[in-house]
This record gives sequence, C-alpha cells and structure tokens, in this order.
Amino acid sequence: MKIAVLAGDGIGPEIIAQAVRVLDVLKKDGLDIEIEHGLIGGCAVDVSGEPYPDATHQLAAQADAILLGAVGGPKYDVLPRALRPERGLLAIRKALGLFANLRPAILYSELSEASSLKAEVVAGLDILIVRELTGDIYFGDPRGIETRDGQRVGFNTMIYNESEIQRIAHVAFQAAQKRNHKLTSVDKMNVLECTQLWRNVVEEVSKEYPDVTLSHMLVDNAAMQLVRDPKQFDVIVTGNMFGDILSDEASMLTGSIGMLPSASLDSNNKGLYEPIHGSAPDIAGQNIANPLATILSIAMMMRYTFNLEQAAQRIENAVRKVLAQGLRTRDIVSQGTHILGTREMGDAVLSNL
Ligand code: NAD
Ligand code: IPM
Ligand code: MN
Repeated sequence: MKIAVLAGDGIGPEIIAQAVRVLDVLKKDGLDIEIEHGLIGGCAVDVSGEPYPDATHQLAAQADAILLGAVGGPKYDVLPRALRPERGLLAIRKALGLFANLRPAILYSELSEASSLKAEVVAGLDILIVRELTGDIYFGDPRGIETRDGQRVGFNTMIYNESEIQRIAHVAFQAAQKRNHKLTSVDKMNVLECTQLWRNVVEEVSKEYPDVTLSHMLVDNAAMQLVRDPKQFDVIVTGNMFGDILSDEASMLTGSIGMLPSASLDSNNKGLYEPIHGSAPDIAGQNIANPLATILSIAMMMRYTFNLEQAAQRIENAVRKVLAQGLRTRDIVSQGTHILGTREMGDAVLSNL
C-alpha cells in the first residue's frame, strides 16, 4: 500500500501529522503501508517555484493513494494565477484523472448540538454529495481578464461534454444503489445550456438504473432545501462548482467543516483523500484545528482504494468513541464537552483505535 502524503499549507501539516499517526498504527498492526512525503501548493512554490512540481507528480502517479492536507494562504494570494497553490490541487486532480469526488455528510449523533440547525432537523443525517471534479467552469477555456473597448472584462467558460457527465452519473447511480436508491441531480438548466445537457445526459443514464429514483433540482433551491430539510436527500450529484459550494454548506449540518472527509477517485479507484476544508490560515500554527476530517479521510482511503472495510470502520468507530467521551476541538464544542488541541485530539483517536 503505497501512500503519498502531501501536507500542504496552513493547518495542513498539523492535521496531516495526526492522520499519519493513524496510518502508523495500522502499519504496526500488520498492514503493508509505505509512506512517502511530497510537496504541493504554497510550500512547493517556496521550494521549487511551482505548485505541482514534477517530483510530486511522479510520487503521486506511482502511489496507490494520496493523502492531502490543504493548500493556499494569504502569503500566496499575490502570485500570478498559474503559480497559485490552488492550481497545484487542480493540477493533481486533472493529471491523475480524479473525476469523482465523494463528499459524505454524516451527522454523528453526539454532534447534534454543534450543528447550526435544530437537532430534530439533522438527527440521523447521512447524505453523499458526488461532485464532478475535473471539468466545468474550473477548467473551461476561454478564461481570463482582458481589456475590451477600454474596460476590463473577466470571463470563464462553463463546459461539460457528454462523456464527462455520463461517467460521473454512473458513479452517482451506483453509489445510490448501495444506499437508499435515491438520487438528486442538481443543475441550473433554467438558465445555463451546459447544465441543460447535464440534465439530459443524467436522464439518459438513469435508464440503466431502474432501481434508483432520480429527481432533478435547481441549485438555488437545492441550497435552500439543504438547510430546510436535509434528510430528504440520499445521494446528490452535481458539477464541480455547485458541488464545491453545496458541500461546504452541508458540512455545517454535521457540526463543522472540520468533520467532512472526501475521496477523489479515478475510474480504477485510485484515490486522493483530503478533508473538504482549506488551509484555514486564521487558525494555522495554533494547535486548534480539527484533525477529524483528515483522519476520516483515511477511513475512506481504506474503504475505496484498498477495499479494507474493517480498517475503515475501525477508524470511524474510534472517532465515534472520542465524540462519545465528550472530547472536542473548539469548532465542535458544546456545553458539557471538553476542548482539546489538534495533537491531543490525535492522542484521543489513537487511544480509541
Ligand atoms: P477554509 O476552509 O480554509 O476555512 C474556512 C473557515 O473554517 C475558517 O474560519 C477556518 O478556520 C475554519 N476551518 C477550516 N478547517 C478547519 C478545521 N479543520 N478545524 C477548525 N476550523 C476549520 O476556507 P477559506 O478560509 O475560504 O480558505 C483559506 C485558504 O484555503 C484559501 O487559500 C483557499 O484557496 C484554500 N482552500 C484550500 C482547499 C484545499 O486545499 N482542498 C479547500 C478550500 C480552500
Ligand atoms: C475544495 C477547494 C478547492 C476547490 C480549491 C482550493 C481549488 O475549495 O477542495 O473544495 O474549489 O475544489
Ligand atoms: Mn471547497
């Protein structure tokens, strides 16, 4: 099990350090894990001048799975766009063909007080957002900022071809088959042609999955429904940008953005695993970030790339026990619970593994 670890920037190294301790335990207990570290994002720019250096690409391409912290930070906001840390993340996703981004939003019952919604609205929440990750307005051409007729214009292109839509639709239908057989496809077909095609193609693919009930929802309504009645959803499938936004929104239903892991898979289940949150520059270096999303990303790695369901559940159960013990980082704290730092939360997970 070759695992490339790319800690990145901001809180990246702090949360990754705790997740690597979990990998070390799995290794000690017999899994054949080999870890190699590499640079991505701002820290890679600092060393090599590029956010996704070739050495990192080689490392990632040869690995079975990649564990990533987060990239970006104010220090790098002045860089030309091609050198931004975020470009490194987009580059690795594209270069490795990681088109299927799975973002489960599960409310651990112990955290119902931490959710911004009323406990009865979110109790038992378990939804899966399937976000297309290598297309859409993120990668479309033309793009840029130009001067036209004496004033600046900024432009991007929202674009999907039908095969990109088909393959993510298959992933979503198959995920729904393993869950509650309900799929909601989110688009903006009332305004955008690109997403009219999205709706048509998802409809066509649905013929192959008669056991899944497909519905469609416009993205503005979906944003509202997610906070009105999130439990109406089972699996949501949507494009790159809508999925980015809706998954941050969904994270808050589960108590904190610091709780949501993700898997970004290619067609052979090679995967990159990362928390959905960013580098959180506002809290970096203070040992207060929540490492649980990153630790839960390792559970997803065990499940999706290595097919080790037991190892995945071992990690998830350890997290559940820590929460049941009333241990919290400050982003998920509520009355009667005890605040730990990042490292101490790692200790707590380890002692429950
Ligand atoms: P962010 O997700 O980094 O932070 C948003 C808020 O959530 C902040 O208040 C932060 O303190 C909090 N937060 C995030 N993760 C947390 C954790 N584990 N524990 C506790 N609190 C946490 O989003 P942002 O502030 O919009 O972006 C900061 C930088 O991160 C930007 O440069 C952005 O481009 C980058 N970014 C990177 C990724 C990634 O690497 N996958 C994802 C999102 C944003
Ligand atoms: C995420 C992030 C990235 C995205 C950025 C940093 C490129 O927000 O992983 O959700 O928009 O995909
Ligand atoms: Mn995001």
